[in-house]
Order: sequence, then structure tokens, then C-alpha cells
Amino acid sequence: MNPLRELGKWIEEAREEGIAQPASVAFVTVGSDGRPSVRTVTLKRLEDDALVFTTALWTRKAQEVEANPHVALLFHWPQLGRQAHLTGTASQADRSLAEELFDERDLVNQLQTVVSRQGEPIDDLEPLRDRLAHLATVQETVPVCPTDWGALRVRVESIELWTESDDRLHDRRLYSRDGEGWSLTLLSP
Ligand SMILES: Cc1cc2nc3c(=O)[nH]c(=O)nc-3n(C[C@H](O)[C@H](O)[C@H](O)COP(=O)(O)O)c2cc1C
Repeated sequence: MNPLRELGKWIEEAREEGIAQPASVAFVTVGSDGRPSVRTVTLKRLEDDALVFTTALWTRKAQEVEANPHVALLFHWPQLGRQAHLTGTASQADRSLAEELFDERDLVNQLQTVVSRQGEPIDDLEPLRDRLAHLATVQETVPVCPTDWGALRVRVESIELWTESDDRLHDRRLYSRDGEGWSLTLLSP
């Protein structure tokens, strides 16, 4: 099986298990100074060879991907005793996909994108809250996707699917990209 399909199955099983935010994932980028940074994002699309997230394009993660496309990701579902480690190369997805994903956001998330310059220093949250509340009241049309908001696509180069075992001999399956397919290496726990 394509390991990304298996990843999709794991996310679905986490959802069925009632795990909160089953598609949230730690996303590690590295800036031009060689220093890593990490934050949580939410998987929006799982493609045959890639993961897609949405983000404002002025943010640290998006800027760092511009400078250095090499990224790492970590899913962890403790209740299932599973984790998935991924590496890949990230790039900005097409504008059309960004617009499609923006349209899928609910109104308050769309407005949040417009109201808040995520990551910029502020003195106070209240003016943002006031503006959000105001827009939520007066907004008559659906907001359009801002030009500096978009989606990142991570083409996966490797994925390790890790399953906990009671005897501590955990199952570690490392899939590495091999041409159009994947090669599988079992790793010692
Ligand atoms: C569960 C969860 C899901 C999140 N999903 C996203 C997301 O999909 N995209 C995003 O830009 N930020 C998301 N965030 C906020 C980020 O973790 C982060 O604070 C923000 O993107 C700024 O990151 P940066 O300044 O390092 O680029 C999420 C946070 C949490 C706790």
C-alpha cells in the first residue's frame, strides 16, 4: 500500500476514536540561518505523494520554506500508540488550490485571516477582536482569498510509520521514495 494512503487511514481511525484534532501535525522548517522552528498545522489535503496545509504566506513557516524547502513533520496519536515521521520538500501550491481551500473555511476563519497579520507583534488583542466582530456583523458577501494567503504542498520523501507494542518491540516501517514507488526498511525499535 502507498504509505500516504496508510497515513490517511490512520488519521481516519484517530478521528473515529474521537481523538481531538486528528489531522494536526508538527511542522518543522529551517530558516536561511540554519535554525529550525516548529509549529502545529492542520492537514487539509492528502494527495498520492504530498501533504497540503493552508497558511498566511508572510508567516515564518512560509518564509522559511521559500529560503529552504526541506521540512519535517510529526503526527502523534498517543491513544492509538502511533506516530508518523515525515520528511519532504515544501513549495507554495497553486493559487487555485489556495482559493478552493479558503472557500472551504468557515466565515470566522476567513475573517480571522483578513483581520490578523499572524505572527506580527501587537500591543493588544482587543482592536482585532473589535474588527472581527464588526466584520462578522457587516459582512454581506463572502470574503475573497487574500493574495498573500495560500497553501503549502509538501512532497513527501520519507515516512516512518511507528506502532507501539506492549513488549516495547515497536513496529517501525520506514518508507523512502524510490523512483515512482517506495522502498521499505524495517527499523529496530
Ligand atoms: C491544532 C492547531 C492547528 C493549527 N493549524 C494551523 C494551520 O493549518 N495553518 C496555520 O497557518 N496555522 C495553524 N495553527 C497555528 C500555528 O501553530 C502557528 O501558531 C501559526 O501558523 C504561526 O506559525 P509561524 O509563525 O511559525 O509560521 C494551528 C495551531 C493549532 C494549535
